[in-house]
Amino acid sequence: MILEVDNLTKFFRTPSGLVHSVDGVSFSLARGETLGLVGESGCGKTTTGRTIIRLYDPTSGRINFDGQDITTLTPKEMLPFRKRIQMIFQDPYASLNPRMTVGDIIREPLIIHGFPKDQHSDRVAHLLSLVGLNSGQAGRYPHEFSGGQRQRIGIARALAVEPELIICDEPISALDVSIQAQIVNMLEDLQKSLGLTYIFIAHDLSMVRHISTRVAVMYLGQIVELAGSGELYTNPKHPYTISLMSSIPIPDPDKSDARPQVFLEGEIPSAVNPPSGCRFRTRCPKAKSECSSVDAVLRDVGRNHLCACPFID
Ligand SMILES: Nc1ncnc2c1ncn2[C@@H]1O[C@H](COP(=O)(O)OP(=O)(O)O)[C@@H](O)[C@H]1O
Ligand SMILES: [Mg+2]
Repeated sequence: MILEVDNLTKFFRTPSGLVHSVDGVSFSLARGETLGLVGESGCGKTTTGRTIIRLYDPTSGRINFDGQDITTLTPKEMLPFRKRIQMIFQDPYASLNPRMTVGDIIREPLIIHGFPKDQHSDRVAHLLSLVGLNSGQAGRYPHEFSGGQRQRIGIARALAVEPELIICDEPISALDVSIQAQIVNMLEDLQKSLGLTYIFIAHDLSMVRHISTRVAVMYLGQIVELAGSGELYTNPKHPYTISLMSSIPIPDPDKSDARPQVFLEGEIPSAVNPPSGCRFRTRCPKAKSECSSVDAVLRDVGRNHLCACPFID
């Protein structure tokens, strides 16, 4: 396993109380795999990613990368792991310094991680071509590029130091639908040619379907369902996953009747005071009185399909 996350929690102390952003998340990831991490905005996807790469200190739990416990490493001790674990962000414009040329943006991690200086220019040119950009564009600034091209620059920067694991945090959410597939296809090609492992974060199940080996569905800081991609999409079990799926548009209207239609009502409850028992119970179409006191932990319901609803078999 390249990554093992065990009972990870990240709480933030705020004036309105303790925010339970990530609350007992566990999963492991084999080399070359892609784990899709899906759930509505605010469910804790970004915090999970940022805690794994130790931009945040975990409140509790354990993170193992390639067999080494990185949970409590200092920033200095984390440096070699920062090289091996990179992150790509949702908004490629906000994450690229507008005053730096594209070449300097991609060169920066090479400097931080001590790549031989005489190789920097060649490497920048190679990285630009790897992401489908012209190596002659290294002298230009981020605003001279389109949204899709800026995301390619962000990917080139992440690839610069030869990472093994890349946490892709909604890398296509801000892009035109026509561009989304190009970026996903490129990420898939890069994964094959460079042997990369991905955590691919999205708020929408349809975005991760094709790229993911397995998919984890998050709700209010917890994973409520985790299964192989094919298994999850053909046999969703958790009422939350089922309702997320029924919000995916169906291209063929004749087929719409075949799928159970369950629509989510209401707002996500506050992460300061999450509901007792099963956190989804306040919006669950199948909720019963016991749900307020159940222990809604992930359990295997067959075929390595994990589901946190105690009433599913
Ligand atoms: N730095 C922070 N301080 C306080 N609360 C935060 C912070 N970052 C995120 N949160 C809260 O944690 C929860 C999860 O946020 P986030 O991880 O950004 O969700 P997602 O990426 O799924 O949209 C939200 O309730 C959010 O308001
Ligand atoms: Mg996010």
